[in-house]
Amino acid sequence: MKIENALRDQYRKLAKDQGYRSRSAYKLLEINNKHNVIEPNDTILDIGCAPGGWLQVAKKLSGPTGTVVGVDINLTKTITEVSTMQLDIEDPDAIEKIRKNFPFSFDVVLSDLSPKVSGIWHFDHERQISLTLVALQISSKLLKRGGNAIFKIFDGSYSGDVKQEAAKIFMKVTTSKPKASRQKSSEFYVICSEFKGKRE
Ligand SMILES: C[S@@+](CC[C@H](N)C(=O)[O-])C[C@H]1O[C@@H](n2cnc3c(N)ncnc32)[C@H](O)[C@@H]1O
Repeated sequence: MKIENALRDQYRKLAKDQGYRSRSAYKLLEINNKHNVIEPNDTILDIGCAPGGWLQVAKKLSGPTGTVVGVDINLTKTITEVSTMQLDIEDPDAIEKIRKNFPFSFDVVLSDLSPKVSGIWHFDHERQISLTLVALQISSKLLKRGGNAIFKIFDGSYSGDVKQEAAKIFMKVTTSKPKASRQKSSEFYVICSEFKGKRE
């Protein structure tokens, strides 16, 4: 078996044994170990949260006094002490709908968004970047000043657009490729800290 496949199976087994809904849970744990994005007591919004591995990790890291909210175009099965909402983030009223259900600002926004992939690389890349730019726009309206964010990117010619937009609204922007993410996959994560504040 190739090392790549063995690693993927190892994380899949680990997720099953430890009760995480996705292998992706380990990507967030790894990123957080290195970058301290989430702290106890944080209020967290996870955009594109289903099936919910990141929600479980966010709840664990923010602790009993943390607040975790997730939105996804698909239904997310209930997770104890986590609130979820079915929402297409490209709905023009998405921000208002989130605000209506959750009338507070967030310390952290997470985005692990992926479109349904077609297998046509440049098309999937453009679509994923377009979704991520919407997540960035939502962050700019719903984060607290000083807040942090993580955005997944399918790497390609438009990746710079996300980093460029992020740099306009966060003091620090860096990137990370966790071990739990297959080395062959083109995804990586943009880690943003110290949101500069809302511009209405
Ligand atoms: C890789 S999965 C997220 C996995 C999640 N982080 C976890 O650990 O379980 C990407 C998610 O993005 C969601 N998504 C794609 N387009 C969306 C949209 N327009 N609005 C909301 N969610 C969307 C998909 O439904 C999918 O659940």
